[in-house]
Amino acid sequence: MTQQQTQGIILSLGSVNADFQIRLDRKVGETTTQLASDFRRFSGGKAANVAYLARKLGAKASLLARVGNDDLSQQALGTLSEMGIDLSQVEKVPDASTGFSVIMVPPDGKKNIVLANNANDAWQKSDCDKVKQAIADAPADSVLVVDYEVPAFVVEAAIKAAHARGFSIVLDPSPPDRVDKELYPLIDFLIPDASETESLTGIPATSAEEGKKAAQKLLREGVQHAVVKLEDGGCVVAHADTLLHVPAFEVEVVDTTGAGDAFAGALAVALLEKRSLADIACFAVAASHAAVTAYGSQPAYPSREKLNSFFDKISAQVKELHA
Ligand code: RIB
Repeated sequence: MTQQQTQGIILSLGSVNADFQIRLDRKVGETTTQLASDFRRFSGGKAANVAYLARKLGAKASLLARVGNDDLSQQALGTLSEMGIDLSQVEKVPDASTGFSVIMVPPDGKKNIVLANNANDAWQKSDCDKVKQAIADAPADSVLVVDYEVPAFVVEAAIKAAHARGFSIVLDPSPPDRVDKELYPLIDFLIPDASETESLTGIPATSAEEGKKAAQKLLREGVQHAVVKLEDGGCVVAHADTLLHVPAFEVEVVDTTGAGDAFAGALAVALLEKRSLADIACFAVAASHAAVTAYGSQPAYPSREKLNSFFDKISAQVKELHA
C-alpha cells in the first residue's frame, strides 16, 4: 500500500519502558540460574512501540506518557526523539523510575516479559485535563491508540475526549483486568490477543471459528470493530454483518516481542489513511508477521516496503466467514 497523505496524526497513549532483553537457550524456569546471551537495551513499552512504527511508516505521531526523571528515560525516549515523534506530552515524574521490562526470549521466540510499570502508573487525576487538551489540539481525523498499562482514569479521559472529536479509537486491552466494558460503545477497534480474548469473553481464540465467536460477542457488547488476534498470527475481524479471517502465513519466528504493538501501529496507520476494512486488517497482520522475524521490538519493525511485501501475500488469502 502506498502512503496516503492525511492531515490527522497518531496519538499514542500508554506505556513507555526501558527494555532489557536477553536470549535464552531453553524455556524460562527450567533451572534456578539460567545463562543468557545477546543482552540488549532497547526503547519499549506499548505506546512507544506504536508511535515508533507509525512514524516509521510515515505518519505523524505524538506520544502521551510518563517516564521517570532518571537515566532510563533516555533509553526509553532516545530512539523516539530521533524518529521525530512529538514528545511534548511526555512528562518526567520526579521520584519515579522509568518503567522497565526484563524480556527473555527462548529458542521458539515466544518471549516472557516481567514489567515494572513504575512511572507509567504515576499519572495524577489532574493530568486528565492535559490529555483532554492535547486531544482537543490535535488535527481533525486523528487516531487515538491506547493501552491499559497506565491508570484506567487516564484511558477513560482520553477515550471520551477522542470520541468527542470524532477520532477513531483503537484500544489494546492489555492488561485485560483493567478494561472498563462501559467504554466499549466508544471503541472503534478493540484488538485483543488470544489470551486477552479469553479473559474478556471467556472464549479462547484457539481457531478462526472460536475467534469469530469471541469477536461476535465483543460486537454484541458494543465495540464497533472487534479484531481478535489468533495464536497463529492471523486475526478475525467482526464489524456489523462483516466477518473476515486473515490467515497467518509461515515466517521464521525469532522474537515475538512487540508484535502486538506493531499490529496496533500498522492498523492505526491504515485507519488514518482511510483504507478498506480488509486492507486495515491485512496491514496489521503483515506488520506483526514482519516484527517477529528479528530480535527486539522497535529494531525489528519493518519499512513500508517490507510491510507491503508481506501485505501482498496476506491480502491474497483473506476469507469471508459466515455468521
Ligand atoms: O509489547 C511489548 C512491550 O511490552 C515491550 O516493549 C515491553 O516494554 C512491554 O511493555
